[in-house]
Amino acid sequence: MNKTYKKILTKSILFSLYSLFILNVSAKEGMWIPATLKAREADMKSMGLQIPVEQLFNDTGTGLNNAVVLFGKGCTGEIISPQGIVLTNHHCGYGTVQRLCGPGKDYFANGFAAKNKEEELPCAGLTVTFIRKMENITDKILFDVPDTLNDAARDTIVMNRIKMLETEYKKKTGLDATIKPYYQGNQYWILITETFKDIRLVLFPPNGIGNFGGDVENWVWPRHTGDFSVFRVYADKDNKPAEYNKDNVPYTAKQYFNINVSGYKEGDFTMVYGFPGTTDEYASAAKLKQVYSIYDPISIEARTIRLKIWMDNMTEKRDVFLQYTSKYAGVANGWKKWQGEVLGLKANNVTDKKNKYEIGFQNWANKYTKLPYAKNILPQINEQAKKVDSLIYLDQMNKETVMAIELIQQAAVLEKMRFCFRISKSDAELRDTLNKIATSTAGFYKNYDLKTDKKVFIKLMALYVKKCENKLPFYIQETFVHNILLADYKLSTKVTLKQVLGASTDKILEQACEVWANKIYDSSLLVSQERLNAFVAAITMADSTKMMADPAWKLYNEITTLTKQNIAPYLDYYYYNMRHLNRLYMKAQMEKETKKAFYPDANLTLRLSYGKVQGLKPENSKTYSYQTFLSDVIALDDSTSTIFKVPNKLKELYKTKNYGTWGQNGTIPVAFIASNHTSGGNSGSPVLNGKGELIGTNFDRAYEGTMSDYYFDMSRCRNISVDIRYTLFIIDKFCDAGWLIKEMNIKGIK
Ligand code: ARG
Ligand code: GLU
Repeated sequence: MNKTYKKILTKSILFSLYSLFILNVSAKEGMWIPATLKAREADMKSMGLQIPVEQLFNDTGTGLNNAVVLFGKGCTGEIISPQGIVLTNHHCGYGTVQRLCGPGKDYFANGFAAKNKEEELPCAGLTVTFIRKMENITDKILFDVPDTLNDAARDTIVMNRIKMLETEYKKKTGLDATIKPYYQGNQYWILITETFKDIRLVLFPPNGIGNFGGDVENWVWPRHTGDFSVFRVYADKDNKPAEYNKDNVPYTAKQYFNINVSGYKEGDFTMVYGFPGTTDEYASAAKLKQVYSIYDPISIEARTIRLKIWMDNMTEKRDVFLQYTSKYAGVANGWKKWQGEVLGLKANNVTDKKNKYEIGFQNWANKYTKLPYAKNILPQINEQAKKVDSLIYLDQMNKETVMAIELIQQAAVLEKMRFCFRISKSDAELRDTLNKIATSTAGFYKNYDLKTDKKVFIKLMALYVKKCENKLPFYIQETFVHNILLADYKLSTKVTLKQVLGASTDKILEQACEVWANKIYDSSLLVSQERLNAFVAAITMADSTKMMADPAWKLYNEITTLTKQNIAPYLDYYYYNMRHLNRLYMKAQMEKETKKAFYPDANLTLRLSYGKVQGLKPENSKTYSYQTFLSDVIALDDSTSTIFKVPNKLKELYKTKNYGTWGQNGTIPVAFIASNHTSGGNSGSPVLNGKGELIGTNFDRAYEGTMSDYYFDMSRCRNISVDIRYTLFIIDKFCDAGWLIKEMNIKGIK
């Protein structure tokens, strides 16, 4: 054997061993219904679970499920003290805290830390919901409902039974009860819940910690964000939910998470307990193709344009920065996630895998007489999907271009005003109603910059016209193509629309769109609060058609009418059919593989995922790691940047190594990754060790693995968490709020 060959052979043996090792320590796909964990127990124990699954969930009120809450409408939180302290993400508290800010109260810049319970701030509108019990009631909902019954008939039966049972369970338990479908409607579970409404802010680190790295580091590993915040649940004197009242008392929690600060190493067992929102793991290849070839690319392209204009203007003017920072974060969050998703789906050849799977499924279905409908499922899905591809394209284009322009969105206000003419009896009454509507737009105008939006209009409309050239609505053909492109640019009138657009370079298109924008932004009523107010102040019942002359309304109306008439009816019908077919497909898939453990797609109900602490070498990086440290945060410090500026006090604590009891080898661990299957909604979820003790708070996923909503690949899907020691260090040393730590039960302190 020659030397090189030997080398290659050794390398490949080593590589196989390495892969084996990786497989061995690697991820476990799945977000399991906590009430079904018994079936996973052996597997979980083999990976490192050290407690009985009944401790994680049971129906008798003693399970750790009583320490996990749905935080607000789409995040998770965990109870970490017997007096109702809830830990969640900084970005989950962001909106609530924005409402608490005001003159002299900039909690984003300075943070907030109550010094005692009296200083905790009531958060109007914020709720937390506990899942006390859950029960599989499929038999009560679906008895004698045949699989193939048409959905209209089926829905009526199911809805009636749901209503009846919810009422019955509410009476029986004295708590709230909600029934939700699982496995695309093949199973139904009832969730017995309790929602608390008096929630108070306890501690919120400044953005320099809680949003460190901002959108640059969003969806990225390695990560350096202390993405946590602290709230408290308040209850009435009977420990029951109540509206805010200053006499309410901290909720007494029988179950709360013990914290463990002794650390972890790669390969250690972890669990994430929370409320993942939506996934589509059993989707057909046809659906996946729509995702990565229609939805995602359109949204990414259009948002790249919008975000660039926003960022340019935000950088140029501080006022615009303040107006757009929150909007920017929202639009950019999806934009970046979808890029990771497309990358992951392609890198994994997920369509090929799905196609292969579907061939196998079809072969099985052709022969499987027990479910006679099975053989027709995929052919029908494929046929229907093909028919709507172009409609989905158009719909998505409308949403991400024309309807993403703020002025055009705002035309919905004029639409609302138009209807008031029908119900008002006098000029005075009309003016009064319209005035209220006009006043309600103050929030929009506070965060609106006309110059920025106009630039967005020019670029997005140019993109729209170019991409939808054969589908342009009549109004756009008339106003834009004929009146502007042909007239202003003196193109020959004898040419067809296609030729006009074909002959128009991007530059000509954009110039023409600028002319168009000038016309609209010069004359629309919607460009400012003043103009809208002045219009309303002078209005009479005779002016009912005036709004329809507004050029922004016209464009809005054209797109919404087109959608209502030519897109929505077909797409709604398609989704309706797909719901039926997906339910049958799910059922058949489960019937085909009776040995496989199927987990239901996420539906914003309580789930448990498990995996292991596991590192990653991200795309475009040479470094493999599973943990970051305060030293990495300090190394990124940039006083000229808004998002990479480390607060002085944190630098000071680092310099003097003033870590209290929370340090590890002279530094503080900040974030870590593991291979738990998570999704949007898992933000704020407790990350637990094998004993069910809290070691971190989940807040994100790694870029290369965001496709896990469709396909979980253990070699690249990672959830990202704040290390609990960083959280405690910031609470204790940065915020000087040691009084909170005294409430907690912390193990492993050196
Ligand atoms: N990507 C995370 C999630 O989906 C975090 C978003 C908030 N953080 C940010 N830098 N925008 O919600
Ligand atoms: N940041 C996400 C959230 O707010 C969690 C990240 C993910 O999608 O995994 O729920």
